[in-house]
Amino acid sequence: MTTELIVVGAGGAGREAIDIVTALNKAHPSCFTVVGVVDDGPRAAHLERLERLGVPHLGALKVGLTSFPAARFVVGVADPAVRHRLYAQISAASRSFTTLIHPDAALGSDVTIGDGALIAAGVRISTGVRIDEQVHVAAGALIGHDTHLSGFTTVSPGAIVSGEVTVGPGAFVGAGAVVLQNLRVGMGSVVGAAACVVGDVAASTTVKGVPAR
Ligand SMILES: CC(C)(COP(=O)(O)OP(=O)(O)OC[C@H]1O[C@@H](n2cnc3c(N)ncnc32)[C@H](O)[C@@H]1OP(=O)(O)O)[C@@H](O)C(=O)NCCC(=O)NCCS
Repeated sequence: MTTELIVVGAGGAGREAIDIVTALNKAHPSCFTVVGVVDDGPRAAHLERLERLGVPHLGALKVGLTSFPAARFVVGVADPAVRHRLYAQISAASRSFTTLIHPDAALGSDVTIGDGALIAAGVRISTGVRIDEQVHVAAGALIGHDTHLSGFTTVSPGAIVSGEVTVGPGAFVGAGAVVLQNLRVGMGSVVGAAACVVGDVAASTTVKGVPAR
């Protein structure tokens, strides 16, 4: 039996979520069926790319919320704040979510992954890691032992979050950034691409550079 999915977001993150589904269907045939993508204001280029994947744009989110009653939602949007807003709208409509873990991701022992999380190809997650709901871990990111990624965080491609780090709710870790061990990245903070974080990051703060400031 297949699970119907509606992907929210026609942009890169949404189409990367579709790629995870395609890989999962290769590993476990007919596991999921993507019935379409919803996006309130898709760019023309994104719609063309979606068409090349053979996946229809159903319309705005409100269309998805009232169609395909059995379908589950995947929020394919990298920005944590936007993802949180969309999540709230979907939850308020009593619709549910699916967690997608790419078959080429490697998960250590004693790892928990929350509802609606997306784990991309090439991600390596060490032992004792807690990943909460609606977290995105993008391609090739490394998550160290005993680290906690709070709800709605995004870890971008190739980032390294070392061991025993706590990333607060809705924080964003940029591409190729490194967060050293035992640190806290505060709620809603942004770590710039290629930064090296060597101390705690306060809530709602942007840091960048090496060392990150
Ligand atoms: C750090 C970041 C959040 C800053 O964004 P911003 O506030 O819009 O900053 P701006 O682009 O206006 O740049 C401000 C200054 O910071 C510098 N800067 C921007 N990003 C930087 C980075 N990652 N590392 C070092 N310096 C950076 C700019 O060169 C500019 O310097 P200047 O004032 O000397 O001219 C952003 O550039 C970034 O790195 N975001 C993460 C992107 C990413 O990883 N996306 C994932 C894609 S898959």
